Amino acid sequence: MLSKSANLFALRVCKNKLCLPNSLTSKYSSWWSGVEMGPPDAILGVTEAFKKDPSDKKMNLSVGAYRDDDGKPFILPCVKKAEEILYNKNLDKEYAGIAGVPDFCASAAKLAFGEDSHVIKEGLNATVQGISGTGSLTIGAHFLAQFFPGVKEIYMPTPTWGNHIPIFKRAGLTVKQYRYFEPKTCGFDFTGALQDLAKVSEKSIVLLHACAHNPTGVDPKPEQWKEMSKVIKARNLFPFFDMAYQGFATGDITRDAYALRLFIEDGHQVALAQSFAKNMGLYGERTGAFSLVCSSKDEAARAMSQLKIIIRPMYSNPPVHGARIASTVLNDPSLRSEWLNDIKIMSDRIFAMRHKLKEGLQREGSSRSWDHITDQIGMFCYTGMTPDQVERLIKEFSVYLTKDGRISVAGVSSKNVDYLAHAMHQVTK
Ligand SMILES: Cc1ncc(COP(=O)(O)O)c(C=O)c1O
Repeated sequence: MLSKSANLFALRVCKNKLCLPNSLTSKYSSWWSGVEMGPPDAILGVTEAFKKDPSDKKMNLSVGAYRDDDGKPFILPCVKKAEEILYNKNLDKEYAGIAGVPDFCASAAKLAFGEDSHVIKEGLNATVQGISGTGSLTIGAHFLAQFFPGVKEIYMPTPTWGNHIPIFKRAGLTVKQYRYFEPKTCGFDFTGALQDLAKVSEKSIVLLHACAHNPTGVDPKPEQWKEMSKVIKARNLFPFFDMAYQGFATGDITRDAYALRLFIEDGHQVALAQSFAKNMGLYGERTGAFSLVCSSKDEAARAMSQLKIIIRPMYSNPPVHGARIASTVLNDPSLRSEWLNDIKIMSDRIFAMRHKLKEGLQREGSSRSWDHITDQIGMFCYTGMTPDQVERLIKEFSVYLTKDGRISVAGVSSKNVDYLAHAMHQVTK
């Protein structure tokens, strides 16, 4: 049977002549009449509803963007200074090369792997600039879809960041999952993850959140990472690290690169997507990088040539401004140390809000355990609230969050944390 749209466009034969379909002869015809309304984005849809809410108590905890204690977006002072330096250099606006701003790519790779890493010293990384984390993941997904020599299946944690699945599916990989979050403890399902990874078809791909797992805020402990690295090695799996929050988990960029660097030490070749959206506050500047670790300089050069071939028809070459900012901050010793301090300020504020929220819930008289609020790490807290409770929070308290009960702790301030604790207690008691 023909679909509705195919019917609309089916050519008609009238009086032995081919006629235009009805849809094209009508005044109201359109090529797109068969396009169905898609669902709103799970996160941006919540923001739309938030904007319409007239309440002066309303809170938007759905979006993963850092806010200061007045609830305002935060431009890092080191970023402002870097912009001033760039402005005074009177740079032109010519195109970057296909792989982006070279200094930025080199600095991003050093930041992730470490200046002393053999990957950097021996030039084993093929690194290209990407359109923030999302674009960098997309480049990687397309590279793997074309060149990965094993099974073109990628295993992701359950749950994972909502965009991971379509990014890899659209590139042509089959997406499967491994256990990650344990709802009973609101913590890491270490046993489940290991059991699932041990069963994954050999020579397939595993997606790992390098730190500050989104949406759960639950990261493996160093000892658990070691075990995961072993199992992944034993099954001959290829690790793809998504590092969107370096510095945001612990406030320390080196500690947050632990898992990535451990895997490198253990002899894994890895893929890596980086984002500077959160840790440098460059959200809208779309600044990120994709790296592939190779076994020789020559292999890296070949991989690089193919990465460029993938990028060229996608968007030709990336935007320069954010990359210039990031590379200025990373390479100017005084701006870099300011940046490290800013990261600490942001992560400390989030940490403080986690504690205040838990204390507030206890003060409200909640008998539940809210330890996971302070055990979890990074920008998000996976509260364990049910979709019904989330709906009540929105309807009765104008507290907006995603249906899975995830809140962006970065959006909580000392002015509204008590209100949030009160609202959460009311819907969970
Ligand atoms: C796990 C994860 N990966 C990647 C990204 C990419 O973000 P962006 O494209 O804004 O850098 C995000 C953003 O929320 C994320 O949470």
